Amino acid sequence: MKDLFQSADWKKEKHVPVIELPEKAKKDESLRITVSVGKEIPHPNTTEHHIGWIEVYFLPEGEKFPYLIGRSEFSAHGASVQGANSSSVYTEPEMVCTLKTGKSGTVNVVSYCNIHGLWTSSAELKVE
Ligand SMILES: [Fe+2]
Repeated sequence: MKDLFQSADWKKEKHVPVIELPEKAKKDESLRITVSVGKEIPHPNTTEHHIGWIEVYFLPEGEKFPYLIGRSEFSAHGASVQGANSSSVYTEPEMVCTLKTGKSGTVNVVSYCNIHGLWTSSAELKVE
């Protein structure tokens, strides 16, 4: 199961999801989590090669199971009736989740490239 997911430094590897969130958050207050792929090194976005989706999970401290916070599907990758890369319409792999939580925890993200598989990253969320 472990080999299904790859990870690395997002500044050096274009597939790794980049998580942007506040350093500290207040208990039960809305906070924004932005996730993107290719922030430092752009990932291709073509009919043949693109990021298909991103999922965001939150694992509160001391709990066993994560919660799915949100999922975004990126569906337009240039295809049209004229063929591959002919529409000029491309969904960019970026999403925003707005989360409220009473507990600190870990934000875990999974992204999917249609030819390079599943990539993960995580970030700590401090709630006070
Ligand atoms: Fe890829």
